[in-house]
Amino acid sequence: MEEKKILFSAIQPSGILTIGNYLGAIKNFKKLQSDYQSIFALADLHTLTVKQEQGALKRNTYELTALYLACGLDPEQSILFAQSHVPAHAELTWILNTITYPGELSRMTQFKDKSLKHEDNINMGLMDYPVLMAADILLYQTELVPIGADQKQHLELSRDLAIRFNNRFGETFKVPEGYIAKSAARVMSLAEPERKMSKSDANVNAFISMDDDTDTIIRKFKRAVTDSDNKIIYADEKPGISNLLTIYTAFTGKTIEEAEKEFDGKGYGDFKLKVGEAVASVIDPIRQEKNKILADKDYLDTVLANGAERAARIAYRTLNKVYKKVGLLPRKRGYNVRLR
Ligand code: TYM
Repeated sequence: MEEKKILFSAIQPSGILTIGNYLGAIKNFKKLQSDYQSIFALADLHTLTVKQEQGALKRNTYELTALYLACGLDPEQSILFAQSHVPAHAELTWILNTITYPGELSRMTQFKDKSLKHEDNINMGLMDYPVLMAADILLYQTELVPIGADQKQHLELSRDLAIRFNNRFGETFKVPEGYIAKSAARVMSLAEPERKMSKSDANVNAFISMDDDTDTIIRKFKRAVTDSDNKIIYADEKPGISNLLTIYTAFTGKTIEEAEKEFDGKGYGDFKLKVGEAVASVIDPIRQEKNKILADKDYLDTVLANGAERAARIAYRTLNKVYKKVGLLPRKRGYNVRLR
């Protein structure tokens, strides 16, 4: 039997996800998981680049694991694990750092945005973030990386580093391709539709969280910023309405044309209510299932432990090759690290 190609993606456990994360990432993970050997990580080391409140990272890591499962990721078929449980990620980051130039990192949009937002904590990790992401991807000889549009620049760097390493040391890494969905790859804020919807937005009305209940979802859509011409059409000069149409079609499977026809002659109030109901009807069962799974921490620990073991087997095959290629002396003996 032909071996399946590798798909890898990750999400940071940095808070309750939004429908942006869902549409840009998780929904596609579910769609693609059986066509590939799929590997889904919780990028917990990435999360440390921003200050975390006491206990939040642990709580959010369980939350995201439960959400992955509630969204239909299958821990038998796919590999689900926490990045920090496979030390090869940090180890490969170091090697890749030695072929990365500071200028490549300082011009990354996300680094510039986050530096402005966290002026009091511009740390080396924040700058090195894309190199850790490249290590995540390259360790698994990944062919496909499903991501939202905001991660495209980081994926480009992963490709550049793979090519650079291969040129310098000989063929080692697969050069990964991005998978960016044609629609909803960039879900926008409900309050400022020129900006990306983000879970770290200070204004909770700007995003729909995967934890919002039906009433909250409908209330937030009612308040969504639109415009004053009362036409429900997709157009550049109507970012608010266009964003709502994108969300509506992504949740219902309808096309933009179908949606425009459906709401022809209707008012914004009607439209917003329908968008809210469509989103809630998908999110509500996911949230309930997530909360059910979340209650069983032993199960979540087992899923992550199994996932880390399976991930490590693949990751260390690549890392050993890399260490050899760069000229490090091979270890003559293995040793066991005591975990407790
Ligand atoms: P993170 O945790 O910020 O976001 C997770 C995924 O959600 C997508 N996304 C969006 N998609 C559409 N509309 C939005 N408003 C929106 N907001 C977020 C992101 O593009 C992402 O796909 N660096 C990554 C995590 C990561 C990773 C990796 C991804 C670490 N290592 C290796 C792929 C491969 C991140 O910050 O995602």
